[in-house]
Amino acid sequence: MEIHSFSPISIQSYSKTKEEKPVSIPIGINTDIVSFTGIHASKLTKMTEFMTKPLIEKYTIPALNINNMESAEAVIEAAFKTQSPLIVQVSAGARDYAKGGEKTFVAMFKTLRSELSKKYGGAADSVRLHLDHGEDFKVCKDCVDAGFDSVMIDASKHSFEENVAITKQAVDYAHKRGVFVEAELGRLAGVEDKIRVQSKDAAFTDPLEAAEFVRLTGCDSLAVSVGTSHGAVKYADDEKPRIDTRRLRKIKREIEKILPENQGKKPSDQTWRQFPIVLHGASSAPKELFKELNEFLVVPRKLTSKIMTQLITGKGNGEKIAEELLPYLQMAKSKGVPERIYSSVTGLVAKLNVDTDLRAKVTANIKKTMAENPTNIDPRKYNKAGRSGQSEIAAHKMEVLNSAGKSTGIKTKLDIQG
Ligand code: G3H
Ligand code: 13P
Ligand code: ZN
Repeated sequence: MEIHSFSPISIQSYSKTKEEKPVSIPIGINTDIVSFTGIHASKLTKMTEFMTKPLIEKYTIPALNINNMESAEAVIEAAFKTQSPLIVQVSAGARDYAKGGEKTFVAMFKTLRSELSKKYGGAADSVRLHLDHGEDFKVCKDCVDAGFDSVMIDASKHSFEENVAITKQAVDYAHKRGVFVEAELGRLAGVEDKIRVQSKDAAFTDPLEAAEFVRLTGCDSLAVSVGTSHGAVKYADDEKPRIDTRRLRKIKREIEKILPENQGKKPSDQTWRQFPIVLHGASSAPKELFKELNEFLVVPRKLTSKIMTQLITGKGNGEKIAEELLPYLQMAKSKGVPERIYSSVTGLVAKLNVDTDLRAKVTANIKKTMAENPTNIDPRKYNKAGRSGQSEIAAHKMEVLNSAGKSTGIKTKLDIQG
């Protein structure tokens, strides 16, 4: 096992229960397996190292959503090609879509990670599998049991107290099995939530509450609300895209202050333990990409005939047709997080989530291929185009997040054998 130059900090569960003693494993010394508990503790330590490293080395790990084999191939291949760490994430929607649920993704992930790391020669465990937005304990438990490296328990829609209770239950279960837990505090309010710009801040994560939340739950990372939101339209027309980096810095610092390992230390101390913050809703939703989507707009034949009839004969209800057409035209609308501001979160955010950009690209490429080859009925043709588009987006994110080339230092044994 190769050991890396992490500072000699230790990780421990600070949500002690009466029955369980906190596990304390120094990072940077050989954590060879000595017992059943040791295996799990070592696994959690490695995932924590993986999530802390970007904060020290100033890059951000892209966390990219997958839904099927092609999207998994696309993002995993991009990671090995660019030698970037990667978090492959699966949402509740993706689990429902796959007939074998989370087990489908574990099997697919293991195979692809193993095969593609051999093909490109990368460090296999720099690519990890994560549950995105696990809505309750049961979903998290199922993914922990299935072999995920990390799970997100998202109880942010509940009250603070309920969020704490649900998160703590997931943390207790996952930690005993060596699985890392991301939680969420605050609401990611977007334009679509009809929350007025002025009141958007009200849904932002409070730094002191965040510290209390981490103290009470023992979660390993925290998703916060600092201005981003899910989907293609994150900001109103008259709103300037922004990330509240001051708040982000304060959240991180307040959390770090309560960590047991940091007691009696200063943030400037070499052994100060950094806490991984996660940024959701970080797609850039580029205008060009959304224009591309619109260029190959597929309007149902029924509607195009209505338009033609109206144009040629002047018959039909023009207003009604315009109303029906509107959703198609609105596809072109997007306002995301400009990639030029990604660098403002370096050293603050360990993991940055992107789904919308991948969805838009796969759809644009498939539409384009279909439009250009109207007689083709071979799904591999358009799926291939969709896959290469997703791979392009993934590799591009790895460049702009400065994670490309950063996977080489993580050469530990695989936690899950490929
Ligand atoms: O944050 C959510 C992701 O974009 C996943 O979306 O629930 O439609 O799969 P989904
Ligand atoms: P986007 O909608 O900005 O891609 O966010 C994805 C996300 O946060 C997944 O959890
Ligand atoms: Zn999200």
